[in-house]
Amino acid sequence: MNMILRRLSRAATAGLVAAAALTAAAHSAEAADTLGSAAAGQGRYFGTAVAAGHLGEADYTATLDREFGSVTPENEMKWDATEPSRGTFTFTSADRIVDHAQSRGMDVRGHTLVWHSQLPSWVGTLGASDLRTAMKDHISGLMGHYKGEIHSWDVVNEAFQDGGSGARRSSPFQDKLGDGFIEEAFRAARAADPAAKLCYNDYNTDGVNAKSTAVYNMVKDFTSRGVPIDCVGFQSHFNSNSPVPSDYRQNLQRFADLGVDVQITELDIEGSGSAQAADYTKVVQACLAVERCTGMTVWGVTDKYSWRSGGTPLLFDGNYAEKPAYDAVLSALGGSGGPGEPGGPGEGTATCTATYTRTADWDGGYNGEVTVTAGSEPIGSWTATVTLPARQSVSALWNGTAAFNGNVMTVRPSWNGALAAGTSTTFGFTVTKNGSDAAPAVGACTAS
Ligand code: G3I
Repeated sequence: MNMILRRLSRAATAGLVAAAALTAAAHSAEAADTLGSAAAGQGRYFGTAVAAGHLGEADYTATLDREFGSVTPENEMKWDATEPSRGTFTFTSADRIVDHAQSRGMDVRGHTLVWHSQLPSWVGTLGASDLRTAMKDHISGLMGHYKGEIHSWDVVNEAFQDGGSGARRSSPFQDKLGDGFIEEAFRAARAADPAAKLCYNDYNTDGVNAKSTAVYNMVKDFTSRGVPIDCVGFQSHFNSNSPVPSDYRQNLQRFADLGVDVQITELDIEGSGSAQAADYTKVVQACLAVERCTGMTVWGVTDKYSWRSGGTPLLFDGNYAEKPAYDAVLSALGGSGGPGEPGGPGEGTATCTATYTRTADWDGGYNGEVTVTAGSEPIGSWTATVTLPARQSVSALWNGTAAFNGNVMTVRPSWNGALAAGTSTTFGFTVTKNGSDAAPAVGACTAS
């Protein structure tokens, strides 16, 4: 597809996306039983980093599609991925993520335009004047491709050193263009896509310290001189060496007071159980306490694909089961919690029933169908569990999204959550028998 057609089709899709997002928000205002819908209820987005290479994995996309309202390509929009040789742009992997997100009504964060890392080697060989041109061309080429489709861009990433000096980090940009490269990048970004929020993004800037103060002083200078900047991203990679700072909220607030939005852009917290859950709660509460904290992004869907997988830092474990940290985040966002919890499925008087039928059968597998029927009151959403006999596995599911915990499949609606009193919907699934022809057990249906 040539570029003009590509852009036209991207723009048409973006129009559909706005409608889809509105529908999702309207529905989720009733249910608020996912991270994205609960955050939307607080006027925030809740997103995740996504890797294009995992989109073919059913559990990955089911969890992504069910829970998140925003995606950040984890590596696919970086310079080495998008302009590996000068002037030759490749958007295949990034497009895959953007198309997936848009078709499901999710927003997209752009990450990242100018960064010292994941930089193709040709950039480092350029002289100052050529480098300035190449930087601006990269910004206009990448932002131009997604013009109007990205809610926030990390324009410059990690330009400050760690430690007490507050100095800039050495990079081809810093070393050859000086401090002014950041301002030049922001001005070029504003010209390339005036609708996108332009962010500066960094790590170890989450509390008040020398590094965050150096960034603060830069943002203050930019806003006082009219350099276009709209937001500051706080990566928030935490572990025992770098815990959630006690002055996190205060630090977010001091940036917000400069007149910019703040966003938590790459959140992950190593640990497990209630301690990890408590740390996640602190982060969510800090963001919610700052009016200009517009959203949070966790740096991955599942522990098994995290850049720090050994530290199990995310909200879903390697089997996509919700961890205590997930419950804590959902609860801190004012979501409806798990079955039987206040405001959650099973709370209140709405009821539903679930019945199972085998609709097709062959040597190696079968199709099952579950009919969900609302009781004597209308329901906004439902959850049904299907327990598979040993050895069997699910290879496909339709009219629902599934989360697996061992052999228990928890199904939630994809589009068919709301049911009038006494009416029904169905979801279906294909099972691989692996030598077992036993029937699955359908557990309780919970309504909300
Ligand atoms: O795709 C290649 C694969 O073909 C090759 O076989 C393999 C061998 O090492 O490497 C694969 O590329 C890796 C890439 O992730 C995709 O998995 C790179 O080596 C690896 O360096 C890269 O790591 C990424 C890292 O940024 C690079 O700096 C992480 O996935 C990504 O999560 C991480 O994200 C950064 C943010 O962009 C900025 N803030 C910090 C954050 C965590 O480091």
